[in-house]
Amino acid sequence: MTGTVVETRGLTRRFGDKTAVDHVDLRIAPGEIYGFLGPNGSGKTTLMRMMTGLLTPSEGSATVLGTDLPGNAEPLKQAIGYMTQNFSHYRDLTVRENLGFVGNIYGVPRRDLSARIDELLVTYDLVGQADQRVGGMSGGQRQKMALAAAVLHRPKLLFLDEPTSAVDPETRRNFWEQLFDLVDEGASIIVSTHFMDEAERCHRIAILERGVKRIDGAPPALMRDLPAQVVEVTGRDMRGAKARLDPAPEVLSTAQIGARLRVLLRPDLDRPEAVVRTILGAREDVSAEQVDPNLEDVFVAATTPELAA
Ligand SMILES: Nc1ncnc2c1ncn2[C@@H]1O[C@H](COP(=O)(O)OP(=O)(O)O)[C@@H](O)[C@H]1O
Ligand SMILES: [Mg+2]
Repeated sequence: MTGTVVETRGLTRRFGDKTAVDHVDLRIAPGEIYGFLGPNGSGKTTLMRMMTGLLTPSEGSATVLGTDLPGNAEPLKQAIGYMTQNFSHYRDLTVRENLGFVGNIYGVPRRDLSARIDELLVTYDLVGQADQRVGGMSGGQRQKMALAAAVLHRPKLLFLDEPTSAVDPETRRNFWEQLFDLVDEGASIIVSTHFMDEAERCHRIAILERGVKRIDGAPPALMRDLPAQVVEVTGRDMRGAKARLDPAPEVLSTAQIGARLRVLLRPDLDRPEAVVRTILGAREDVSAEQVDPNLEDVFVAATTPELAA
């Protein structure tokens, strides 16, 4: 394999009249954490299922770890791990029993399996839960077990579908430490998320909207190359400020975030904060300041039709 673990070419999936994934072209390099960022229904799960060989594309093709899809996906199964969006293990079995079950599916030799499970229990901090039934565990513990199950057979490529949706921020941080450890050990990871902070940790991301890839790249480059300038407005009556800014031709979009208003303006304006102040009129109680773009701005710009040229 030279330089690519996944390549998709016009990958498309329709369900009836609905196009869930629409001509997506991707190239994913080894040793990366590659993120799919998009809201619910943007096609993240469908895209992953096609890449794992579980779902047949309606159109287009992919090469995953050298296996061409559509085609015989059997060789791929041993080489990939897949943590599904919904917990897909047995709630009536213990952690150890579930991991044993997964090990048997992957054909891990009996003599190696119990040592491997012990190792995973330590790595994923599950020693105390080893003989507990999964049904009674917390979301965070279940998530750790699901990750342990996905990596049990040491896959080269790991698919994680919204792995941290159901856990608290601290568990989420720890989970990401584990992902970086896996990458250090040589794995490549594809992860879907709708959290900006999580997307920002990825080496590269693709932003998806309604099945279409709007933009892809490394988060710092995407922020640097944003085709807009960002001004943050604070003060009273942000709804009124938004109502005045939205129709202005210099303004590309506005989004209220708590007590602040995040304003994207045309990239060619000289002093965007002054433009904002002029539009709002002389108001002592409002401040406008140019700020560096963040990933949320990139997301907004990529999904705003006038901006996504
Ligand atoms: N098996 C299916 N049958 C019909 N529609 C589906 C099916 N799977 C997904 N979809 C539709 O495809 C779109 C993308 O879904 P999905 O890939 O699950 O998005 P995401 O994972 O980003 O939330 C949604 O509109 C969803 O309703
Ligand atoms: Mg999904």
